[in-house]
Amino acid sequence: MLSETGEWRGQSVFIKTLLTSDPDIRERFGHEGQIAAMLDHPLVVPLLARTPTQLLFPFIPGGTLRDLALCGPLSADETSAVAMGVLHAAAHLHSRGVTHQDLKPENVLLMRGPLRADSVRVIDFGMSHARTLPRDIHSGTRMGTPHFMAPEQFKGVRGDPRSDLYSVAVLMFDCLAGHPPYEDALGWLAGIHERRAALPGPPELHPVMLAALDRDPDGRPDSACEMLRQLWAARRQLGFSSGGPYETAVIEGMTVGEIA
Ligand SMILES: Nc1ncnc2c1ncn2[C@@H]1O[C@H](COP(=O)(O)OP(=O)(O)OP(=O)(O)O)[C@@H](O)[C@H]1O
Ligand SMILES: [Mg+2]
Repeated sequence: MLSETGEWRGQSVFIKTLLTSDPDIRERFGHEGQIAAMLDHPLVVPLLARTPTQLLFPFIPGGTLRDLALCGPLSADETSAVAMGVLHAAAHLHSRGVTHQDLKPENVLLMRGPLRADSVRVIDFGMSHARTLPRDIHSGTRMGTPHFMAPEQFKGVRGDPRSDLYSVAVLMFDCLAGHPPYEDALGWLAGIHERRAALPGPPELHPVMLAALDRDPDGRPDSACEMLRQLWAARRQLGFSSGGPYETAVIEGMTVGEIA
């Protein structure tokens, strides 16, 4: 795969080009494009155009959340605001029957400027699952990133939105601590140990992270909207100001569809 930036119809674009004729890889690329085309939300990078070998997205100038986290841990204010943005995007995906299955700081781009919920642009549907597509091309695989992958996903269960909530909790943990919760992620996923690092950040955020990190999906919030409400309540306890429309939407009880 070749990734490059360019100009298209007067705007800066990010172009993913497939360079192989391997039929499996071509099918996976087509699948990624099909899923990206099903989505339409301000915090999800929009697909501008696609061909069997190219996907075009707007170029997002602020780099990835990973780039930022490498400069040092994020504050509780920044982390919780970014997590709210990712959860708004996830709620949209889930409402379209899509689970991302690979939410992590490398797959969260940021707009330039102060870090708020609406800085977030979620990318990369290469591992995603769509309920409405006739075939799950990743079925039976353990694809994903071990540190960010929910235990049921490791066992091959795909399409459960609560797996994405687990990944958002790891993302929060990683941004606050500078490292993910389990040093030996594969051992934890396989059920061999429970050695999690101490929860980082202020105690007000701990119940939100703990619940979403539950090994059992039934122990997690039952939807992205529920986790958004929990995060918003924690931010209020911490005295953080509302940082834009995506935070105010939760306060006012608006649905993600209304704000989108
Ligand atoms: N629209 C965009 N604007 C700017 N940078 C982008 C954009 N999309 C992707 N990138 C950059 O390219 C990287 C890889 O993109 P993406 O996650 O979609 O592909 P991937 O299939 O995961 O590839 P890789 O295996 O290289 O991570 C991102 O982490 C980001 O740095
Ligand atoms: Mg990626």
